[in-house]
Amino acid sequence: MLWLLLCVVDVLVASFEVTVPNKHLLAIRDRPAVLGCEFTPDPDISNLVVTWQRQEDARVVHSFYYQQNQLDRQSPEYQTRTSLYVSELHKGNASLRIAAVRPKDAGLYMCIVSNTKGTGRALMEVSYEASFEVTVPNKHLLAIRDRPAVLGCEFTPDPDISNLVVTWQRQEDARVVHSFYYQQDQLDRQSPEYHTRTSLYVSELHKGNASIRIAAVRPKDAGWYLCIVSNTKGTGRALMQVTYGAPYSEPRISIHVNSSALKVQFETEGFPKPEVIWLGEHDQNLNYHLEIHGQTEDGLYFIKSICEAQKPVINITFTLKNHLLNQNLQRPVVLSYDEDTTDHMIIVLAVLSVVCILLVIGIIWLAVQKQNKQRSSL
Ligand SMILES: *[C@@H]1O[C@H](CO)[C@@H](O)[C@H](O)[C@H]1NC(C)=O
Ligand SMILES: *[C@@H]1O[C@H](CO)[C@@H](O)[C@H](O)[C@H]1NC(C)=O
Ligand SMILES: *[C@@H]1O[C@H](CO)[C@@H](O)[C@H](O)[C@H]1NC(C)=O
Ligand SMILES: *[C@@H]1O[C@H](CO)[C@@H](O)[C@H](O)[C@H]1NC(C)=O
Repeated sequence: MLWLLLCVVDVLVASFEVTVPNKHLLAIRDRPAVLGCEFTPDPDISNLVVTWQRQEDARVVHSFYYQQNQLDRQSPEYQTRTSLYVSELHKGNASLRIAAVRPKDAGLYMCIVSNTKGTGRALMEVSYEASFEVTVPNKHLLAIRDRPAVLGCEFTPDPDISNLVVTWQRQEDARVVHSFYYQQDQLDRQSPEYHTRTSLYVSELHKGNASIRIAAVRPKDAGWYLCIVSNTKGTGRALMQVTYGAPYSEPRISIHVNSSALKVQFETEGFPKPEVIWLGEHDQNLNYHLEIHGQTEDGLYFIKSICEAQKPVINITFTLKNHLLNQNLQRPVVLSYDEDTTDHMIIVLAVLSVVCILLVIGIIWLAVQKQNKQRSSL
């Protein structure tokens, strides 16, 4: 009997408890946060004292006694931002609400409660996180023909990806580029142009990386892309632009020369339209002819440029600039003519001809002389 009584007393003394249901609370910037705290209730709250304070420096966050809030000693950072659920106090609920979380609210909080049944305390930690965000590190991405392109997208991560939905779509017409939910790619509604060409970095999703990779860029990949993400923490979207470019191929050269003029021609393909410059011997601009044939199915412009000059031109430099890709193709053409040798040949030929003619004349003259002698001797 005595033993039972002792037990009951023991239970009564030991039974007062203060507990926090969440020892770690993630508070989100600008949103309210509820720091849960429960205690062994007493329907009569006239003796109840609730104090919330910061563990680090004992700053008072909120305090309640004489059946009302007592905020004289409240730390200024928490002024007008905190409240208790007063109507729940008699049920043992001493939870604290912080109205709009600020970065400095992160830290350790102590919930201290005493009533007729006892006194107790419990510690919890609040960590802070910016509100849910989706961002693209590059708002403008330059994608190069036939090369892979990574469209970066980041979001406020949640290690649990079971509720994660990632959708990449084209802004212009809402075509689906890639989509992921139920922890896997969902490509039923993917636009056919992107079929087998896109992938997410699935192992990076829990870190907040929703970047997409396009395997080999095509001209029609140029445009606006929306990265739309939602998880347990929120929903957001970010927009980015992809520009397409193709470096110009090594120019094919052809040269035509006749007796009076020469014609140099270059042909090449790339995207977008280039700047073409022809320079002469003294870096002077030369007149030229330029043909640009419209963008073909493979997304390239065909360029043909011709420069004509009167002989004897020696140096011509063809320059093609693809400003989008910072490509600068410079191809000098150096011509040399063997004109001196030709002149010598002509002189030699002329001298030889004169010598020949003189020889012939001499032979004829000798023959005539001989005949004349024979006639006179007859
Ligand atoms: C305390 O009461 C508030 C308001 O009704 C509620 O949101 C919260 O979950 C309660 N907390 C606990 C620990 O019971
Ligand atoms: C996402 O992960 C990929 C693969 O590791 C990486 O190349 C890329 O830079 C990451 N992107 C972002 C935005 O973190
Ligand atoms: C030489 O070529 C130029 C241009 O290619 C042309 O205008 C000219 O008539 C040609 N001259 C001769 C002698 O063929
Ligand atoms: C032609 O160009 C070459 C190479 O740039 C240079 O060495 C040469 O001096 C130039 N000739 C003339 C006549 O400008």
